[in-house]
Amino acid sequence: EQTDVTQLLLSRIRDVVDYPVPGVMFKDITPLLADPAAFAALTETLADLCVRHGATKIVGLEARGFILGAPAALRAGLGFIPVRKAGKLPGATLKQSYDLEYGSAEIEVHAEDLAAGDRVMVIDDVLATGGTAAASLDLIRRSGAEVAGVAVLMELGFLDGRRKLEGALNGAPLEAL
Ligand code: PRP
Repeated sequence: EQTDVTQLLLSRIRDVVDYPVPGVMFKDITPLLADPAAFAALTETLADLCVRHGATKIVGLEARGFILGAPAALRAGLGFIPVRKAGKLPGATLKQSYDLEYGSAEIEVHAEDLAAGDRVMVIDDVLATGGTAAASLDLIRRSGAEVAGVAVLMELGFLDGRRKLEGALNGAPLEAL
């Protein structure tokens, strides 16, 4: 079912044909970010989800997960923790590598930012193959923290990311707006 908020959000996502490579339809969220009513509705929805699932911290995934996760964290009154691509964080980190279609990538988080007793919601713009989100859940669990769930603006259903994330979610919810 589509609520008014869902319709508003959908109407502010631009499909870009053949970007970044031929055959790919890119989902551009910049029109949504440029519309304060849509951005506010998204922020409020994400913040509500975090509260409803009992999160005590929000992890945002570089880079668009930062743009969506940081205002949601402020709105929910929760701390914001960036999970970054490898090599960007200055302190002691936990690292997790994951497979891409060709090759692999690595993400990391400051070790001191997550610990046992934390309950963490992961926020990102898009769930595609699910590799990035799954790696972030591994990082969170390795820190001793608990996973409250994953919330994304969009899920690209045809890539089957939800199924690939199932094991890493281990019963925690995946919310796709
Ligand atoms: C995109 C997107 C997600 C991830 C989803 O980020 O914002 O973080 O890919 O893909 P997956 O489900 O297949 O792992 P990207 O790697 O393009 O990074 P960026 O936001 O820093 O450009």
